[in-house]
Amino acid sequence: MPSQSPMPPAPIEVRVMEFYSGADRSDLAGGEKDPSQTGAYQLQWRSTETHVLIVEGGRNVCHVGLVKHSVAVEGHPVPIAGIGGVLTRPEYRGCGYGRIAMKAAEAFALSQMGVDFMLLFCRPALQSWYEGLGWVKVSSSVWVEQQQGTIVQPLVSMVRCLGPKQWPQGEVRLGCLPW
Ligand SMILES: CC(C)(COP(=O)(O)OP(=O)(O)OC[C@H]1O[C@@H](n2cnc3c(N)ncnc32)[C@H](O)[C@@H]1OP(=O)(O)O)[C@@H](O)C(=O)NCCC(=O)NCCS
Repeated sequence: MPSQSPMPPAPIEVRVMEFYSGADRSDLAGGEKDPSQTGAYQLQWRSTETHVLIVEGGRNVCHVGLVKHSVAVEGHPVPIAGIGGVLTRPEYRGCGYGRIAMKAAEAFALSQMGVDFMLLFCRPALQSWYEGLGWVKVSSSVWVEQQQGTIVQPLVSMVRCLGPKQWPQGEVRLGCLPW
């Protein structure tokens, strides 16, 4: 049987917020300067707009950001929820908070954003963590905007289908900075 993350001690609260400051992020990162370890890729990012926060004892312990967007797959618009800024406070990792936050983000995307898919970008080492949550690597090129022009996303692009619809095959164009 696959091992499961231990359940965090109750009670925890799931909050959906419009505000998540740089200070909130630094606090959650607990001193880590580049918690997602993507700094070496030197990418420019756009912010997420909705924030799922897991709060325990009045303290934020995990964050998942969402942004609604429409990407083009082979030129056809596909509405998605972009997921970014996934972060658990260092001393709380491995306790299941990340999983809870990702599932709450999924529920929000489905019920409030009305999308069939979620899309995120991660470093290769995290691909398997997302796969464990039902995400699949996008095999086609994903083109993203940067100051210097449109480039192929060097990070791993992953998609999560929220319903019966299959992710369409073909080249993906964000038309904006990644999140
Ligand atoms: C990635 C992250 C959000 C996971 O949060 P978390 O709260 O620790 O996640 P969970 O506790 O729900 O899941 C942890 C489980 O995933 C496993 N896991 C952790 N990293 C993994 C990886 N790279 N591949 C596969 N499994 C992984 C752990 O072993 C643990 O499993 P176990 O309980 O069976 O031992 C957290 O490690 C983090 O904040 N990392 C730094 C920021 C970051 O890299 N964010 C992602 C940006 S794309």
